[in-house]
Amino acid sequence: MFNRDHFIQDCTKAVADGPAAIREIMADAFSDCGRLMSELGEPQHAGITPIHRSRDLTIINFVWAPCMSLMPHNHQMFSVVGIYSGREDNVFWRRTERSIEAAGAKSLGAGDVTVLGHDIIHSVLNPIGKMTCAIHVYGGDFFEPEQPRSEWDHETLVERPWNIDNVKSLFQEAEVRFNAANKVS
Ligand SMILES: [Fe+2]
Repeated sequence: MFNRDHFIQDCTKAVADGPAAIREIMADAFSDCGRLMSELGEPQHAGITPIHRSRDLTIINFVWAPCMSLMPHNHQMFSVVGIYSGREDNVFWRRTERSIEAAGAKSLGAGDVTVLGHDIIHSVLNPIGKMTCAIHVYGGDFFEPEQPRSEWDHETLVERPWNIDNVKSLFQEAEVRFNAANKVS
């Protein structure tokens, strides 16, 4: 049964053993998505809420705004993604001589847990008209990675330095845009 404090303790112990060990803990937690929701609370707003942050481990509660997308980016550390409500459509990209190109996709629904390798480049779409909730566990400090991280413009696929403030704004803007379109104040 998911317990926030125990989950953090278990991930802290397991992170040195790599993504497979984290995945095992996640798979157990995500076998009961209702329990995760009640422990973490119904989402009020889209955004990135850290549950735990240290040099070698970051645990984030992601709430994706309805129909929002996030441009291609890398992490420079492994991550394990679990969905406890809604859906995340991931597009995976690979580097080309001058830019990147789409190389694959994976759609994740409630209860799904997947590992993203250290060098993965992905973009994320919440394809549904409600918030999608996920926990992402990173094998490093997500907010201050040791190796510089990149993002790619969604339209031109031009690479630029990753900007966490920009990313946080995108979540807020997407929520405002969706609410305005649906005339929710
Ligand atoms: Fe990501």
